[in-house]
Amino acid sequence: MFTGKRILLIVSGGIAAYKTLDLIRRLRERGAAVTPVLTRAAQEFVTPLSVSALAGEKVYRDLFDLTDEAEMGHIQLSRAADLVVVAPATANLMARMAGGLADDLASTLLLATDTPVLIAPSMNVRMWEHPATQRNLDQLRADGIAVVGPDAGDMACGEYGPGRMAEVPEILTAIAAALAGGPLAGRRIVVTSGPTHEPIDPVRYIANRSSGAQGTALARALAALGAEVVFVTGPADVPPPAGVQVVAVDTAREMLAAVQDALPADAAVFAAAVADWRVANAAAQKIKKDATGAPPALKFAQNPDILATVAGMGPGRPALVVGFAAETDEVLAHATAKRARKGCDWIVANDVSPATGIMGGTENEVTLITADGAETWPRLSKDAVATRLAARIAEALS
Ligand code: C5P
Repeated sequence: MFTGKRILLIVSGGIAAYKTLDLIRRLRERGAAVTPVLTRAAQEFVTPLSVSALAGEKVYRDLFDLTDEAEMGHIQLSRAADLVVVAPATANLMARMAGGLADDLASTLLLATDTPVLIAPSMNVRMWEHPATQRNLDQLRADGIAVVGPDAGDMACGEYGPGRMAEVPEILTAIAAALAGGPLAGRRIVVTSGPTHEPIDPVRYIANRSSGAQGTALARALAALGAEVVFVTGPADVPPPAGVQVVAVDTAREMLAAVQDALPADAAVFAAAVADWRVANAAAQKIKKDATGAPPALKFAQNPDILATVAGMGPGRPALVVGFAAETDEVLAHATAKRARKGCDWIVANDVSPATGIMGGTENEVTLITADGAETWPRLSKDAVATRLAARIAEALS
């Protein structure tokens, strides 16, 4: 995957630049060549000497370095690479990219290149969440730029939240996907997965038996075809796959908000088993047994239907919206009606009667319902169902 590939690695000025040193080592270990470019601010965080020592190559820093221009103009520099990676990508560099500025070597290379670009954003949580940054991010995605991370966690500045640069293994997976140029390269796909937990009080909740296995397998299969996957998951039994952006939620309403945040996307696949109802009168304190022995009276409210909401969006609707229908009787009839009712393009229907062993099991037997009709697939592992479905999604988006 990496052998013989040339990565143009642009380092902008963020504290995460120290992780980029390790990224360079890992890329070279795997046989890739790295041409490093440092912005002026990056040089405050890592020295050109350490970067060039690790890369085993000259570090490019200046747009108007005449020697470099004689050796290799900036256009050639950007085009000689198989992939341009920006890690860390600061809010400032993202803004300059989104605006098409070319006021230093890094931004000029990014404007001049016709090579695929992957960015690993890194910044303070408030900068990340600022509408300007989110607007720039949407623009960069619309321009076909792939994005890995950021992760949520403790930040060097002492705050907590999203903004931390993705870890090196995650960036390597994203680089591999971008280099592979799979049929879904440059496509962004949102996948929901797992159950939701709807609180009764601070310690109790209503849940369901979904393990998250099918959604996880699907996210993995889509990423393997090169898609940039945002994986919005409830509390699942299985760990999320590598190489996807994980957004962990508990409730249906949090899941809806996370999905809306993740849009725009080329496709959205709703594999989560979302609770249809939440407890309307969830208690702020733990509910106690009382002397009368009377059980608490729970009132329910209907949760938003995430699939129907996204399928019914006007402008900004993903080109392909896929729902799942877990049924215990009259699978085909119910699933066909569901496709029409929810307004999605495809429904993946399956029978989750206990006798099938599908819920919580490793196999699945599905029927894919599209505008062209229904096709039933043989009983397959959930991984094989995922691979097949991912290939169909790639075909539909091509
Ligand atoms: O109506 P039902 O729950 O059977 O629909 C299943 C499909 O709708 C699945 O794709 C599921 O992820 C999605 N769904 C949703 N939000 C809900 C309920 C279901 O996205 N509140």
